[in-house]
This record gives sequence, structure tokens and C-alpha cells, in this order.
Amino acid sequence: MGNEIEKKEKTRVLTKEKLDLQQLFKAPEVGLSVAGQSVTRTDALQKATGKLMFGADYSQEGFLHGKILRSPHPHALIRSIDLDKAKNLPGVVAVLEAKDVPGRNGFGAIIPDQPVICGDKVRFVGDGVALVAAETEEIAQRAVELIHVEYEALPAIFDPRDAMKEDAPKIHEKGNLLSYNKLRKGDVDKGFAEAEVILERTYQVPFLDHAYIEPDVTMAIPQPDGTMLVEGPMQAPFTVRRNINAVLGVPVNKVRVRQIPMGGGFGGKEDSPIDIGCRAAVLAHHTGRPVRMILDREEVTLQTCKRHPMIMEVKIGAKKDGRIVAFEGVIYDEQGAYASLGPILPPAGGSHIHAMIMMPGPYEIPHVKVDAYLCYTNHPYGGAMRGFGAPQVHIAHEQMIDELAQELGINPIDVRRKNAFKLGSSTATGQVLDQSVGLRDTLEACAKAFDWDRRYKETGYVDEGRTKRRGVGIGMGWYRTSIGTSGDACGANVYVHEDGSVLLFTGITEMGQGSFTVLPQICAEELGIRLEDVRLVQPDTDMVPESGPTVGSRSTTLMGNAIILAAREVKQSILEMASEMLLVPLERLEARDRKIYDRENPNKSILFREAAARCMATGKRLIGQGWWAPPPPSLDPETGQGNPYFVYTYSTHMVEVIVDMETGEVDVTDFVAAFDVGKAINPKALEGQIEGGVAMGLGYALMEEVALKEGHIQNLHLGDYLIPTSLDVPDIKPLVLEVENKYGPYGAKGIGEMPNIPATPAILNAIANACGGRVRSLPADPERVYWAIKETGEPPEK
Ligand code: MTE
Ligand code: MOS
Repeated sequence: MGNEIEKKEKTRVLTKEKLDLQQLFKAPEVGLSVAGQSVTRTDALQKATGKLMFGADYSQEGFLHGKILRSPHPHALIRSIDLDKAKNLPGVVAVLEAKDVPGRNGFGAIIPDQPVICGDKVRFVGDGVALVAAETEEIAQRAVELIHVEYEALPAIFDPRDAMKEDAPKIHEKGNLLSYNKLRKGDVDKGFAEAEVILERTYQVPFLDHAYIEPDVTMAIPQPDGTMLVEGPMQAPFTVRRNINAVLGVPVNKVRVRQIPMGGGFGGKEDSPIDIGCRAAVLAHHTGRPVRMILDREEVTLQTCKRHPMIMEVKIGAKKDGRIVAFEGVIYDEQGAYASLGPILPPAGGSHIHAMIMMPGPYEIPHVKVDAYLCYTNHPYGGAMRGFGAPQVHIAHEQMIDELAQELGINPIDVRRKNAFKLGSSTATGQVLDQSVGLRDTLEACAKAFDWDRRYKETGYVDEGRTKRRGVGIGMGWYRTSIGTSGDACGANVYVHEDGSVLLFTGITEMGQGSFTVLPQICAEELGIRLEDVRLVQPDTDMVPESGPTVGSRSTTLMGNAIILAAREVKQSILEMASEMLLVPLERLEARDRKIYDRENPNKSILFREAAARCMATGKRLIGQGWWAPPPPSLDPETGQGNPYFVYTYSTHMVEVIVDMETGEVDVTDFVAAFDVGKAINPKALEGQIEGGVAMGLGYALMEEVALKEGHIQNLHLGDYLIPTSLDVPDIKPLVLEVENKYGPYGAKGIGEMPNIPATPAILNAIANACGGRVRSLPADPERVYWAIKETGEPPEK
């Protein structure tokens, strides 16, 4: 009986919560005034005029300089290490080896498997073997060169499939298979038996570097009370703090992490600041002096994480009309030397599990099977990079859909029309998409703007000399908002002052994506004041509530909700005060543009600041706090079935390319990119995200690759590691559709990563459409395109 009541009580509470959630974040009836506007970015002027100080610009006065001795071997035992010569060099203050790490000698965003200083062995070229702090950078560098290490080289592994062989040398004690995950929906054997056409293909993608322009930098500054203050550009101050406190062996409250302006992150600065943060903190701890550590470009490339390379085997079964009935995939996902953000963080966090979940694409397929292996190798390590496992698998499924269309002789847009998610569709994990599903709208809007039907017919030679061919391609995509683990909660504090000005405290960072503009917009909207009334405080773990990391395109949505809750808490008290002052019932009051007025008699009003001042004078609450977490994620480890993420963003890209049939050169000449974003909080900033994201996707398709030879990176400099310039990027036409997300601030969902995901396969599909050859192993640089043409021969004239 008691149980029954308890159960009923629980159901009641859940239902009520669910109902509240659906209404909580809606726009006010009078409409939005600050959110939804293309206001100028709060950081625009400082950045455009070069006034904003980045880490490298900070004064070095009083700092020691930290340097890392790196392994020249991909895999080796450390036989001995001699620090004496380095220690005796004048100007050197500390030279540290593994035993000098005061706490845990390991860090990592998910698993602490990377040594702060390697003790017994090294696992990739660049692994840290000793740390030096000296009075100048030059002395520190010389000291590094004076350290003598004897290594015993071990056989190394450079392919995830080799890593799984029984006789493979073990890179870590627990073996080379870091994660094996599976997804099972329906019965694939039955599905393939029903299929009228079956195709099998393998696609491969290399390591990619983020190529953020600002090099990594950190400053560790011991405080008089024994606290360690660590400053630097970073996406995840709380993850950095969690690692530093363990490495120093002190409680969490003895470490303070402050984020400073960041010159691009793209996922890479989710974990590189952990690395140099821990190392600089250990040096500062030993010397008792502030230590600055800055990496040069070579070191950034050597040391920091990359986008995971993958080998993806796909088998697809379809009916003659293009309906997909079965999908089978195998992913060999290369982790490299350390776990970083690769492994699963239950139930559905980590880039590997995300790749598995996304692999079948945004298509409703009754029978699905995916096996995903994540293996250590002796290469640099894979981490987060704009899309977190999704860009790779989109390259597989989107090309596969086009190859299927070709096999069936159907227009590729029609195969997508047959299978694309719609409201009520069930994903490969069995999640029923019950709201905010605008995928098909993006397809139709894109097709219309691009004039797909006409242009699909008009491909072929464009010049009289018959050397250049035009082609068009489609890429479709889906992406989550959130990270799929319990660590997804966001907290925000809003302080209103007596003059009506406001401080907003969040732990979400700005890396160029615009969070320092859209978050204050949401705060101002909710309080009924102007954007310039809100000042956002730089994230500082001593001052802001835990917000989780700035990843997974989660900031606007999750933090936006937390801010709305915080703002409402303090607004309640201000409105109560206004109600007393105006003698108008609370429920009739509206706050807008710094005024609080009676809805039934708008002339009856007071200023927001008058009510705030009165609250201050009478001791009425002026601080609000809000916490928001998405509905709990789920994923069965055996079947991969569940609801891993609470909402998805959808997109369709269409692109035109011209391929030089003699040289294999590709020119991207036109681009339309359509998105269902839920609600655009700042439409102009959103367009910026689309343009930047598409440019990144273009780089992945045509030119980017971390070239490796026996574990050594061949292109350490940006002169050799090519990324697109403005000359490579066409005019991009963004189309923004708004299919309301019930769980987002005014209906918004994430957009930061999405634009770069379908861009890559859209370009690859256009290349194949233009020249007949298909590049299944990236990048599609002129050489690979040339050989693909030679292999397949020119397409027949239509
Ligand atoms: N845009 C710029 N200009 N610079 C960046 O570093 N990072 C991307 C994306 N857009 C990035 C960017 C990545 S990897 C993520 S996860 C999102 O921004 C995070 O921001 P959001 O949560 O505000 O979307
Ligand atoms: Mo973005 S890859 O989630 O930092």
C-alpha cells in the first residue's frame, strides 16, 4: 500500500515536472525584445580593434617559464633519466621527474590515464618525460636539452585493427581495446533478407588538427593562502580544476581556475588546458613561484588532441524504391596514446559512443547493427573536435546514401525524402522523436533555394576544352544538444544591483561562438532590461556555479534555461516590490525595456531600477540562482537502445563544385546550408557559426590531414597543415528554420557544431557527381581525386 502511494506520488511529480518543463521557457506573450535580435556581439569591438588581451599578451613579470621534455619515440621504456646537468644550469629553478608529482600522476577528461610526467614508459612522440621551470624561456629550453634519457624502444602500433590482435604489444596495462560498444535494433539478418539491393563500402578519415590560431598558454600562480590559481584559455574550467586538485593531492577548494579570453577552441581546448594546467601547477607547487607555460605552434601540434581517425565499414540494404531496410556498421576508432574524450562516460557521453549512435544517420531504418571499437595506438590522441565523432560517421552514411541512389538510379534527394526522420520517427537507438524535428523542412528549403532539380540535371562539362566538370551534392545531418551524461547540469547566478545593473555569473566560456552575447541577451530578456545593463563575469571556479564544460553545443540551450530560472527568481522579488509600489496586483505586471508596468494600464509604471533600489533598501532578495539539467539520458550497454540526448538539431547542405579532370583540383563554387535551430537567439551570430562551420567542413573534405610516418607528425606547422582560406570558401547562403524545442530557452537548440558536419560529405558527393570518381579515404586532395577519376573513368554523358 505504502509502495503504491509512493509510486503514485512519484508519477504525479514526474508528470508535473514534465508539464512545467514544456511551458517554462516559452517566449512571453508580448513577444521577445532582446533575445531573437541580431545585436552586436559584446566582444566585437575589443576583438576587432585588437584591444582584447589573450594569454600570450599577459605580462611575464615575476613568472618562471615552464617547458616539457618530450619523448622522441612512439613507444619505449624509460631506462634511466639524468637531470643533473639541467639542474646545474644557472637560471634553472626546478627540474622534475615522475616521482616529484605530489598527488595522482595522471590526468584526463574522462579517465586519468595520461601521466603528468612519464615514469616507466612513453606512448607517443611528444609524451612528457620531465618538466623544467627557469627564469627565462630560453634557459628552460636549454635545460630541457641537457636532460639525458635512456630509452628502450618497444614495437609500436599505428592501426586500431592491429591494436586488437592477440599478440599486439600492450600500450596500457589493461590492454589496447579501450571501449567496445554495440547498437542493436530489430534484426539485421531479416532486414538484409528483405533487401532488394545491398551495398558494402569502407570509408576512412585521418587525424585532424583544430588549428586554432591562439597557441595554448597557462599561468599557475600560488596564492598566499595556499590556493593554486590557474589561468588560461579553456573550454572546461571545472574539468581542469578537477584534474589539478587530484594531481596536487589537495581538496577541490584549494584550486581556483580562471578562464581568460580564448582565441578559438573547436573542442581542442576542452582537454589541452588540463595537460598544461596540471604541469604548470606542479611546477608552481614545487617552486612556490608563478609559472607560465606557453606552447609554440610545433608543440601545439605535437602535444594536443586531434579529431579521431576512423575506418568505417558500412553495409546497407534497401528496396528498389530507395527505402532503407537494414544498416550494418563497424567502426574502428583510433584513440591514440591516451583516453582523452574518447571512452564512454555512461550512459552516452564520450566521442566514441556518440559516433556509434549517429552512424546510421538521420534516417528511420527498422534493422540496425553497429559495432564500435575504440583502440589505443602509439599515435597522438583523439579528443573533441567540433562534432565529437559525428563528422566522421556522417562522411560514411551520407556517401553511402549517394552510392545507393546511384546504384538504384534514383535522384539522391529522393532517397533522402524516403528515409529522413520526421516527427514520430524512431532513431537507431529506438528514441522516438516527439518534438522539434525539422529535418525534412531543411531538405525542402535547401532544395528550393539551391534549385536542386534543375541543377542536378545540368551537371557535366562547363568549358569548351572539356577539362572541367560541374557537379552537385547533398549532405544531411543531425546533432545532439547536450553531452549525454549526468554531468550535464548548468548553474547560473544573477545579481541585480541598486541601480538596476546586473552581473551574470556562469561557467560557460567564449571561444568565438558568441556565448558572451547570447547568454546576456537571454538574461536581459527575462529580466525586462537592456543588453547593456548586463555584465557577464569571466568564468572563475571560485565565483560561478558549476556549469559543466562548454561543449556539445549545449551552452545556449542548457545555460540559457539556467539563466531564465535564475532571472525569474530575482525578478519575482522585484515584481513583488513593484506591485507594492504601484498598487497593482503582481500577475498584471510586465517587465520590459527597463520598465515595470501594469498590462491593463501601461501608463502606470516604474523603472526596473527603482524597484531594485527599494529591494536593496528594504533587504529584499536581489540574487537569483538557477540550475537546469536535461531529462536524464539513457542507453542500454548491451543493445544501445535508449534516449541518449534530449533534443537534436537538423540540417541539409547542398553544394556545387567544379572538378578539373586533368589535375583533380576541386573548386567549391556554391553552397546553401539549411538548419532547424529551434529558435535563433542572435540570427547574425548564428550565421557566423554557419559560415565558420561550413569552412571547417570544407577543409576536412579537401585538404586537412595530420600526416604521420612511424608515429611522427610530418606537418607540424600551419605552413604544411593546410586549412581553407577565404579564397577557398564560396559564398555560403544560410537558411535558418525554427521548429520550436519545448525544452530550450524560447525554443532554441544547439548550433555550434552542426554546420561543419554535413558540409564534408556534401562536397564529397558533389565531387563524385561531377567527375564520376569517389574518394573514400580523405582528404579529397587533387592527387586522390585524380586517381579516383582514373579508377572509375569519366561518367557517361547524360
Ligand atoms: N565557433 C568559434 N568561432 N570558435 C570555436 O572554437 N567551437 C565549436 C562551436 N563553434 C567554436 C565555435 C564547438 S566544438 C562547440 S562544442 C561549440 O561552439 C560550443 O559552443 P556553444 O555551446 O555555445 O554552441
Ligand atoms: Mo565541441 S567538440 O563539443 O567542444
